[in-house]
Amino acid sequence: MALHVVDQGRSSLAIVFIHGFPLTHAAWRDQADLLRPIARTLLYDQAGFGESPGHPFPATFESYVDDLEHLLRDREVPRAVLCGLSMGGYVALRATERFPERVAGLVLCDTRSEADSDEAKLKRHAGILKIEKDGLSSYLDGFEQSVLGPTTLQTRPDVRRRARALMDRNPPASLQRALAAMASRTDTTASLAAIRVPALLLVGEEDSVTPVAAARAMHERISGSRLETIPRAGHFSNLENPDAFNQALRSFVAGLS
Ligand code: MLT
Repeated sequence: MALHVVDQGRSSLAIVFIHGFPLTHAAWRDQADLLRPIARTLLYDQAGFGESPGHPFPATFESYVDDLEHLLRDREVPRAVLCGLSMGGYVALRATERFPERVAGLVLCDTRSEADSDEAKLKRHAGILKIEKDGLSSYLDGFEQSVLGPTTLQTRPDVRRRARALMDRNPPASLQRALAAMASRTDTTASLAAIRVPALLLVGEEDSVTPVAAARAMHERISGSRLETIPRAGHFSNLENPDAFNQALRSFVAGLS
């Protein structure tokens, strides 16, 4: 499947950015601009989001991981640092289990290694039904309240507008498919101890979806990993506090190059 990819910069250090649900590659624009002088940056729209077509059959979460594997092969990237936020982090963690030889480093942002609890699976089902019954806009009104931190909701209308614009442009069916797929993902916690590449964990201090405790639990299992909390940011920490996020990201990547 031909995914929409923005592949820029010339360096043997490649960084693949994997966006969260229900965003697009454009959510990583500022981070790609920041790192392009020292790295090859690849941003892509996951299947069904932005300009990428959806999977042609009822996909499980593995299909999103297959897409990343195909992207690395098609773009002739032998090894890359994977930088994934939330759903993008789930993809990065599963990719590290499936094809560790292609992973040069990890930046895991506002994500977790555990699979969905039964409660979380039922919440996904309710979300799929809500999109069907009340429409995308109504679903996103509630979703926005849960993902953006209180500081953003109360004081950063521009960030809120940008996040919403990124979410609004995706077809409702793509969100429904991704919700079902996320409920089907496997638990990658047991493999964290086997990770041998440099890893940075970033998490918004106001993230209530994948809270600081989830990042700390991964940090304790990934040997040599670094954990940084992004102040005054919720679940979309790179959009909500780009200054703090970018500083941590740049310092980590500079140490790799
Ligand atoms: C995301 O930001 O990718 C999602 O909120 C993750 C999730 O729902 O588990």
